Amino acid sequence: MSVKNILITGSKGQLGYELQGLSYTHTYRGYKFFYTDIDTLDITNEDLVNKFFRENHIDCLINCAAYTAVDKAESEPEAALLVNGRAVEWLVSACARNSTLMVHVSTDYVFDGTTPVPYREEDAVGPISVYGKTKLEGEKAVLGYEHGIVVRSSWLYSTRGKNFFNTILTMALEKDQLNVVYDQVGTPTYAGDLARVLLTLSDHFLSGKNKDGGGLFHYSNEGVCSWYDFAIEIVRLTGRQCRISPIETSQYPVPARRPHFSVLNKTKIRSYLLIDIPHWKESLINCIGQLD
Ligand SMILES: NC(=O)c1ccc[n+]([C@@H]2O[C@H](COP(=O)([O-])OP(=O)(O)OC[C@H]3O[C@@H](n4cnc5c(N)ncnc54)[C@H](OP(=O)(O)O)[C@@H]3O)[C@@H](O)[C@H]2O)c1
Repeated sequence: MSVKNILITGSKGQLGYELQGLSYTHTYRGYKFFYTDIDTLDITNEDLVNKFFRENHIDCLINCAAYTAVDKAESEPEAALLVNGRAVEWLVSACARNSTLMVHVSTDYVFDGTTPVPYREEDAVGPISVYGKTKLEGEKAVLGYEHGIVVRSSWLYSTRGKNFFNTILTMALEKDQLNVVYDQVGTPTYAGDLARVLLTLSDHFLSGKNKDGGGLFHYSNEGVCSWYDFAIEIVRLTGRQCRISPIETSQYPVPARRPHFSVLNKTKIRSYLLIDIPHWKESLINCIGQLD
């Protein structure tokens, strides 16, 4: 059996890190992994990207590199667009020259959050933040490529990096009481679960189980909650002594607008890969178990 090469860009981020951990397991022994991040392969450097693809035969690219500072993006739209839009176009071009499968990660923030039912892949997008708009540009580039796959996810967290889970863990140690918004509803996604699905999806396409081009998929954990509910559960499960109080979005002004409702419908990926998706509370327990 010939070994296939998978490149993971942005591999030092929270999702990339989880992918690295999983890729060492025997499940993926038919693959050789290349891990890069901004220090080794800056995806905004088109020449560097092309050179990397010339020098290494890549069967599949899983792009985890992104500009993810949602609020900062409001004052740095060009920087966000460069990483989330233009650089993704260059990655697509490099993939197209080599018939490389491209798996790209996007976000629930491409939706405006005004619908009362979970978003399906075919639902109309309408980003209300710079970050969401730039991620949509990246999506369009990937979905215009015959071997391009986009997986939209939401509220990503893990034990590493800057995310809501880690912020609450830290602040709940420092304060007796925290205010958290209850009028933004979605689903947390443990980065380890998303990483596993990205590898399963890549394997599906690379091993020819699915021959039809690429496509758009939604993936998050199961269930629905507000950031307030999520914080309550983090504090409860870790035994922190901190009171969480619900507040409205208007009481916590930040530069970027967020959708009030961004639950993703996951029917497509569930039936496509024949997978059960863990509930967010189950995955939260799993994540807490990974804490040192
Ligand atoms: N975080 C969420 O809540 C969330 C929700 C839905 C979807 N997503 C999507 O999921 C994907 C992974 O997100 P994440 O949370 O793992 O992000 P992350 O932790 O911020 O990781 C992104 C990685 O990309 C790197 N990077 C930034 N600019 C780069 C460049 N020009 N070239 C190469 N690498 C670069 C970052 O390096 P530096 O740290 O040095 O900048 C970082 O290591 C992203 O596409 C994101 O949009 C995230």
